[in-house]
Amino acid sequence: MLNVRDLHAGYGATPILFGVSLEVREGEAVALLGKNGMGKTTLMKAVMGFLRPWSGRVEFQGAGITGLTPHEIARRGVGLVPENRRIFPGLTVRENLELGLSAVRGRSAGLRRDRLTEVFRHFPRLAERIDQPGRTLSGGEQQMLAIGRVMMAGARIILMDEPTQGLAPAMVRHIREMIRELGRLGVTVLLVEQNARMALNVCDRGYIMEKGVIVFEGPARELRESPVTREKLGV
Ligand SMILES: Nc1ncnc2c1ncn2[C@@H]1O[C@H](COP(=O)(O)OP(=O)(O)O)[C@@H](O)[C@H]1O
Ligand SMILES: [Mg+2]
Repeated sequence: MLNVRDLHAGYGATPILFGVSLEVREGEAVALLGKNGMGKTTLMKAVMGFLRPWSGRVEFQGAGITGLTPHEIARRGVGLVPENRRIFPGLTVRENLELGLSAVRGRSAGLRRDRLTEVFRHFPRLAERIDQPGRTLSGGEQQMLAIGRVMMAGARIILMDEPTQGLAPAMVRHIREMIRELGRLGVTVLLVEQNARMALNVCDRGYIMEKGVIVFEGPARELRESPVTREKLGV
């Protein structure tokens, strides 16, 4: 479904990704693990079109998306829940969610209603806060809002960049269940996480990135048991 091949990218003249290849198949949840500063967010940005790759290729559902704009990539069904959950603090919950629809062609009142209903079914807390500004939400609620926004866009794959960062344990469990639920809904997930234990509990497979290179990959069970995981991630 998502295929990244030999991707090189960086900032200015500084290379950060040195030929990254990875694959996420339809219906899978895949973890991308690695210590801080290894290039995980840079990879998300390059896949999503926020950063133009220097070379290599990104394919989604069999078609090349390398070099397309973030908007075009979102239109094709790729959703990003960015690091530090960038919601719009001055907009209400409803307005934040409806922004997700801007990537949808031919959006109708019916579609808007159906998608909102779907998001609220998963996150009843957002429904209770529908007219509150984003800034009044707790960290966990903001994370729900960020996930809800890509659900509004009808994403077929969701890239999540450290969704549990800074959240209390109860909220981490909530996000974990949400990722499981996305799997049941047939949404494919690429999950970047510092919380390797949690990620390997919900994901089918995983990759470990070190200094812009994938150094290990395998089924989640294998990564859970491998000494390499401990060595590379310090967990
Ligand atoms: N906008 C930027 N400009 C220059 N360097 C950056 C920028 N963003 C990240 N970097 C650098 O790229 C490297 C990888 O960062 P990042 O992809 O955010 O890592 P991770 O998400 O794995 O923590 C780090 O050395 C970081 O300092
Ligand atoms: Mg990061």
